[in-house]
Amino acid sequence: MTEPSGDVLLEISDLSLEFRTYRGPIKALNGVSLNVRAGEIVGIVGESGCGKSVTMMAATRLLPKGSAHITGGGIRLFGNDPMTLSERELQHVRGRLVSTIIQEP
Ligand SMILES: Nc1ncnc2c1ncn2[C@@H]1O[C@H](COP(=O)(O)OP(=O)(O)OP(=O)(O)O)[C@@H](O)[C@H]1O
Ligand SMILES: [Mg+2]
Repeated sequence: MTEPSGDVLLEISDLSLEFRTYRGPIKALNGVSLNVRAGEIVGIVGESGCGKSVTMMAATRLLPKGSAHITGGGIRLFGNDPMTLSERELQHVRGRLVSTIIQEP
């Protein structure tokens, strides 16, 4: 696993994601791209249900394993693909390098 380095800390490229439910697939993200560079503050604005939370939960792999499926694009978090990190590596990333403040705790 690589440590934070370089300018772009989080890179989301053309990310598409769906939830596969018993009622069929729910397309939650359709081609989302954004970069967060060191020292930047990035806000994501959009109507309720447009995918803000799902985008960021995908970046830290906090979405339900069974139903959430990336169908296109990818994520680089500190140079790593969060989908390929082990649980141990993810635990190192979460809380130390990246934190989530839950909207409605
Ligand atoms: N676990 C899940 N299973 C199925 N669908 C989900 C799940 N989580 C989110 N969704 C759907 O994904 C879409 C995006 O939801 P998301 O929570 O990212 O919206 P949001 O932009 O954060 O909205 P808000 O401003 O209300 O927080 C919505 O259609 C939502 O219903
Ligand atoms: Mg939200």
